[in-house]
Amino acid sequence: MKITFRNFRIIDAFSDMTGNVRVNGGRIVDVVPESAARADPGIEDGGLVFDGGGRLVLTGGFVDMHAHFREPGSSEKETLESASLAAARGGYTSVVCMANTKPPIDNEEAAAFIKRRADTLGLTKLYPAISLTEGMGGKRLSPYLATGPSRENAYRPPLLSEDGRDVEDDGLFAAALRRAAANGHTVSCHCDLGGEDAAVERALRLGAGSRVHIAHVSTKGAVELLRRHKKLKPRSGITAEASPHHIALTHGDAEAAGAETFGKVAPPLRSEEDRLALVEALKDGVIDAIATDHAPHTEEDKLNGAPGFSGLETAFAVCYSTLVKRHNFSPQKLFSLLSAVPARILGLSGCGAVSKGGSADLVVLDTDRETVIDGAMFASRGKNTLFSGKKLYGAVVLTLCGGRIVYQQAF
Ligand code: DOR
Repeated sequence: MKITFRNFRIIDAFSDMTGNVRVNGGRIVDVVPESAARADPGIEDGGLVFDGGGRLVLTGGFVDMHAHFREPGSSEKETLESASLAAARGGYTSVVCMANTKPPIDNEEAAAFIKRRADTLGLTKLYPAISLTEGMGGKRLSPYLATGPSRENAYRPPLLSEDGRDVEDDGLFAAALRRAAANGHTVSCHCDLGGEDAAVERALRLGAGSRVHIAHVSTKGAVELLRRHKKLKPRSGITAEASPHHIALTHGDAEAAGAETFGKVAPPLRSEEDRLALVEALKDGVIDAIATDHAPHTEEDKLNGAPGFSGLETAFAVCYSTLVKRHNFSPQKLFSLLSAVPARILGLSGCGAVSKGGSADLVVLDTDRETVIDGAMFASRGKNTLFSGKKLYGAVVLTLCGGRIVYQQAF
C-alpha cells in the first residue's frame, strides 16, 4: 500500500526537518524536505495521504530491547496478541521479549515458533531472547548455547538473556558469556545478585571481551561503575538501558501504591538521587538506550507480590514528559534513545530511522497532546501502572509496522 505523509516534522537520530515521506510496499521510498516538497511530483500518485500540518512528528518506530510477553505459559497475564497490540499502541515496531516464560525459551525452535506466531499477527516485529541456561535453571548451558545455532538457523536472536534472575555460578556465567561472544551474540544481564552495584561489577568483570548489555540500570552506583568502565575501556562495547519508570519515579511512588504489591518492580524504584543519576547518564551516553521492561501481571499476582509494571503503552509519554519537558532533552535525543540506538545494539538494520530505502517502521507523534493515563484502558492484559491518573505530554497517534497501519487514533 502507498502512503504519503505530507508536511510532517521528520525527526530521527540523524536529521530534523519538515517535509514529506512516501511509503510503498513496506519500504520508505522517499524522504523529501520542505524546500523540495512543492515540486514533489510523487505526492499525488494515489494511496493514503496524511497531513501533519507542519506540527506532527514522524520518526522511526520505537525499538524495545526488553519486554515480557508471557507466552508460552502465562496467558492470564498477557498473550502474544495483547502484548503486540500494546506495542503497536505504544509506537513500538520491534520488540525483544524475554525468555522467562513457562517453560523458558532456551532453544532456537521454541523462539522461532513464538516469532512465527507473532509475525502472523503482523502488529510488531517480535524477537524472542533465548536464555543462557537450560530451563533458566542456572545449572547448565541452554540448548541454544550448548550446541550453537542450528544448521538451518531457523532464527537468530538479537539478544540472549537470563532476565528475571542472574546466573549465580561464576564459571557457568563466564562460559555463557564466552559462548555467546563466540557466536557474535550480545547478552543482556539482569544484575541483581548481591545488589545491583555488585552484580554490575561482576557482569563487567566476567564479561570482559564479550558483548555485555546491562538491563534496567537503576542505581547511581551502577551508573558510576558504567561511567568508569566506558572511560577506561571505550572499545569494550558495553551497553546499558534504563526503564521509563526508573527515569520518572522514585521509591515514594512505590510506597504510595504499595511497595510490596502494585508498586513492586525489580529492580525497585529508588531515590531521587538515583533517578537524577539515570537522567544524567542518558544525557551523556553512559546509558545508551531506553527499554520498557514491560512486565504484565494479573491483579491477583500483583497482590501476591509479583514484580513489574505494564510499560509499552506509556513509555513514550512518560519519557517525553520527563526527559524533554522536565529535563530539557531534545526530541531528537529522546527518539534516538527509543529507536536508533536500541536498533543498533540489536543489529536490526533498516529500522530506527526515517531514511529512503529503510523499512517502513514509523510512528506519528503529537507532542502537544496531553493524556490522562488509565491503565484500565490498556490493550495489554496487565493493567498495572503507577502512571494511572497522571496527565502526561505526548501521544502516539499512528504506528506503521512494515508499511501497515497497526494503530491509529484521530489527528
Ligand atoms: O519487575 C520485573 N518483572 N523485573 C524482572 O526482572 C522480571 C519481570 C517479570 O518477569 O515479571
